[in-house]
Parts: sequence; structure tokens; C-alpha cells
Amino acid sequence: MKVIIYFCILIVFLTIVFIGRAFLFNDKNEGSTSDLPTRSFLCPSRCICSIGDTFTVHCSQRNLDSVSDLPAQTTEAYLQVNRIGNITCADFYSTVYLQTLDLSNNALRRIYNCSFSTLTRLVYLNLGQCSVDVIETGAFYSLNQLKCLILASNRIIATPPRLFMYLSMLDYLDLSSNLLIRIKNDTFTGLSSLTKLYLYNNSLLYNNETFELDAFCDLNNLEVLSIQMNQPNDSGVVYPDIALSKLNNLREIYIDGYPAALGLGFLFLIKLEKFVFGNMVYGNSM
Ligand SMILES: *[C@@H]1O[C@H](CO)[C@@H](O)[C@H](O)[C@H]1NC(C)=O
Ligand SMILES: *[C@@H]1O[C@H](CO)[C@@H](O)[C@H](O)[C@H]1NC(C)=O
Ligand SMILES: *[C@@H]1O[C@H](CO)[C@@H](O)[C@H](O)[C@H]1NC(C)=O
Ligand SMILES: *[C@@H]1O[C@H](CO)[C@@H](O)[C@H](O)[C@H]1NC(C)=O
Ligand SMILES: *[C@@H]1O[C@H](CO)[C@@H](O)[C@H](O)[C@H]1NC(C)=O
Ligand SMILES: *[C@@H]1O[C@H](CO)[C@@H](O)[C@H](O)[C@H]1NC(C)=O
Repeated sequence: MKVIIYFCILIVFLTIVFIGRAFLFNDKNEGSTSDLPTRSFLCPSRCICSIGDTFTVHCSQRNLDSVSDLPAQTTEAYLQVNRIGNITCADFYSTVYLQTLDLSNNALRRIYNCSFSTLTRLVYLNLGQCSVDVIETGAFYSLNQLKCLILASNRIIATPPRLFMYLSMLDYLDLSSNLLIRIKNDTFTGLSSLTKLYLYNNSLLYNNETFELDAFCDLNNLEVLSIQMNQPNDSGVVYPDIALSKLNNLREIYIDGYPAALGLGFLFLIKLEKFVFGNMVYGNSM
């Protein structure tokens, strides 16, 4: 009998100890980062970590050739200007609190559809100047909080159909200085929050085939569009004015060509305030 009582007391004691430990360490699994300074972590070598309201890892210009082990608590990661040549499926798998990710000025070339698959809180993603030429279908599937996506100065000739369709919060999309040759009906499907779209300095000739008629169909909130530096000269300019006529919230457009070539579709752009042809500015205020 005595043995059983001692045994019970031992069990109760162990239980209390375990609950106490669980209580002390349970903040590991919570989303809040405000209590982070009290906890130890390993900052990747060659990087600097700063912890406060955010958990920021500064790794720019460190000659990195791969993504170092980011602490799982990281909310902001600055990895720009390195030699990172690949993002594996594992690199960001555990960093589920990431909100800001700057990978610009690297040599990624291909964006895999597993690369960012766990980053459901990401708000800002910069993949500019990374020599990207292939983006796999589904690469942005999980990024439903993303507001800003920069893909400028890469080598993108075409994006897969509906690549951006899960980005319902996206406000800003920069595809300037790529090699895009066509904007299809399903290129921008789903971008219902987008207000700024930059397509300047691509290979989007102004003819009747470059912009399909529903190319801008879903962009009901678009306010600023630049398609400048695509048409090499003014000869044979055919404006995609039927495609453009769907942009019923457009306020500013930056465009090649010349006013006399404008088609009837432009009459539908009733909110337009600023028209910029090359370096000339035409506005309602003038
Ligand atoms: C690059 O990452 C992808 C995706 O994880 C992987 O399949 C591929 O083997 C990697 N390539 C190199 C050279 O590491
Ligand atoms: C990921 O990309 C591969 C091609 O590399 C494709 O076969 C697969 O369907 C894609 N997965 C998703 C979820 O889009
Ligand atoms: C236009 O894009 C090319 C690469 O395609 C780049 O070299 C050039 O600097 C860009 N020009 C501007 C004004 O952005
Ligand atoms: C574009 O215009 C050319 C003639 O300038 C014509 O042959 C072609 O069929 C047109 N394409 C479309 C899709 O309308
Ligand atoms: C694009 O959409 C327009 C309007 O719905 C349609 O007339 C056209 O055939 C479509 N183009 C393609 C290539 O599917
Ligand atoms: C003008 O640009 C077109 C492409 O739209 C090109 O075929 C043509 O050769 C150019 N003409 C001149 C005079 O540069």
C-alpha cells in the first residue's frame, strides 16, 4: 500500500514538473515575436540578426552562394547582392513567419514551385536582378498576403498561365526590364487588388497580337500602368486600346507612340488624369 502511495506522489510531482516546463517553453510555437529577445537562437554565420518588434536577418553583400539556415522566427530576411544560385525546397520551409524577403541581385535563374510554399505571411518579395528566366506553375501559390512583388530586370519571356492568380492582396507588380513578348488573357488573372503594374522596357510591340483582348480584364483596381519602352518607333503603332478599355480605374498611363494614333478604346478610361507619351506629359490639368 505504502509503495502505491509513494508511487502516486511521484507521478503527481513529475506531472507538475512537466506542466511547468511546457509552460516555460510553449512560446516557441506562438506567432508573436515580441518576447523573442529572451530566447537564444543561432544567427547564420556572416549575417547580423536584430531582434525587436521584428526578427530581422541582415545578410546582404556577404558573398553567400546559398541561403544559410535562417532562424525559424525570422520575420525579415535581407539576402540581396550575393551569389545565391538556387533556392531549394528546404531553404524557407521553416521560416513561416517571414513577411519581408529580399533576394534581389542574385543568380537564381529558376523559381521552383516549392521555393516559397510555406510563406503564407509574406508581404514583400523582391526577386529583381536575379537572371530569372523560368518561374514554375504554382510558384506563388501560397502567397495570399503578398502586397508587393518585384520581378524587374530578369530574363522572363513568358509567365505560366494564371501564375499570379492566388495573389489577391497584391498591390504592386513590377515586371519591367524583362523580355516579355505577349500579354495573354490569363496572364494577370486574379489580381483584383493590383493598383500599380510596371511592364516598361520589355519586348511588347504595339501590334494587334501582343496584348490579347482580355489581357487586363481582372485589373479592376489598377491605377497606374506603364508600357513604355516597348515599341521601338512610331511606325505602324497599333494601340491595344480594346484591352486597355477594361481598366476602368486607371489614373495614370505611361506609353510609347503619339496622341494621334490613340484608338476609341481610350474613351473608356474615364478616370485617366495623367497621360505620358515618352517624355511628354498630357494631363487634365493642362
Ligand atoms: C535547386 O533547387 C531545386 C529545388 O529544391 C532542386 O530540385 C535542385 O536540385 C537544386 N539544384 C542545385 C544545383 O542545387
Ligand atoms: C510544380 O512544377 C512542376 C514542373 O516542374 C509541375 O509538374 C507541377 O505540377 C507543379 N506543381 C504545382 C502544385 O503547381
Ligand atoms: C532595359 O532592359 C535592359 C535589359 O533587358 C537593361 O539592360 C536596361 O538597363 C534597361 N533600361 C532601362 C532604362 O531600364
Ligand atoms: C493582325 O493584323 C494582321 C495584318 O496587319 C492580320 O493579318 C492578322 O490576322 C491580325 N491578327 C489578329 C489576331 O487580329
Ligand atoms: C481572349 O479573350 C477574348 C475576349 O474574351 C477572346 O475573344 C479571345 O479569343 C481570347 N484569346 C485567346 C487567345 O484565347
Ligand atoms: C520600327 O519598329 C518595327 C517594329 O515594330 C520594326 O519592324 C521596324 O524596322 C522599325 N522601323 C524603323 C525605321 O526603325
